Amino acid sequence: MSQDQMKKSAAVAAIEFVGDGDIVGVGTGSTANFFIEELAYKKSSLKGAVASSEGTASRLKQHGIKVYDLNDVDSIRVYVDGADEINGGFEMIKGGGGALTREKIVAAVAKQFVCIVDETKLVETLGKFPLPIEVIPMAREYVARCLADLGGKPVLRKDFITDNGNVIIDVEGLSLTDAASFENKVNGIVGVVTNGLFALRPADVLIVGAVGGARVTQRA
Ligand code: 5RP
Repeated sequence: MSQDQMKKSAAVAAIEFVGDGDIVGVGTGSTANFFIEELAYKKSSLKGAVASSEGTASRLKQHGIKVYDLNDVDSIRVYVDGADEINGGFEMIKGGGGALTREKIVAAVAKQFVCIVDETKLVETLGKFPLPIEVIPMAREYVARCLADLGGKPVLRKDFITDNGNVIIDVEGLSLTDAASFENKVNGIVGVVTNGLFALRPADVLIVGAVGGARVTQRA
């Protein structure tokens, strides 16, 4: 089974979590794109979606799914998104696609976060995947020095500007045994907009696409 087939099988299984009349929160990335394709088959029973990036919004619209501005929505029952890494406590590194800020906002609003991944994303300790940090451009060098002080190797993402007009610093060489406290530390650096750790708000449900089908687990 290819990695794409595993991603797709997780995306197909996530449809079970979408209810009639829902406004669904939709993530960003190749796994989320498989989910959008599945969501399109269900669009007549949906109210619509809230997108976590401009790219996802345009894909949803191409499939004829109504996209709501988050400010016009009181609540989101379910948010479905991928991850770059996820551990046994359903804490994640996200932002490989650079959409971490809007992903974190939609995840904060959603009652239930359903994370869809292929099995290569499962890790014991977060940090092998470089941690994306969205930064206000004028604070780039200051934030990079602070991140180095925290023990990482900051690398500016080349030729990349986020949907919010900011830059991304990817932090290499981390081993995050206490991800929630690291998330708090990075949040405390002036100039950081968002960091890609989702430990304070982990996923509620993990769907792993794997050889032999999708495995669905609820967070303990
Ligand atoms: C985008 C993300 C994605 O969820 C993450 O990068 C995983 O992407 P993919 O599904 O393509 O492997 O956080 O900002």
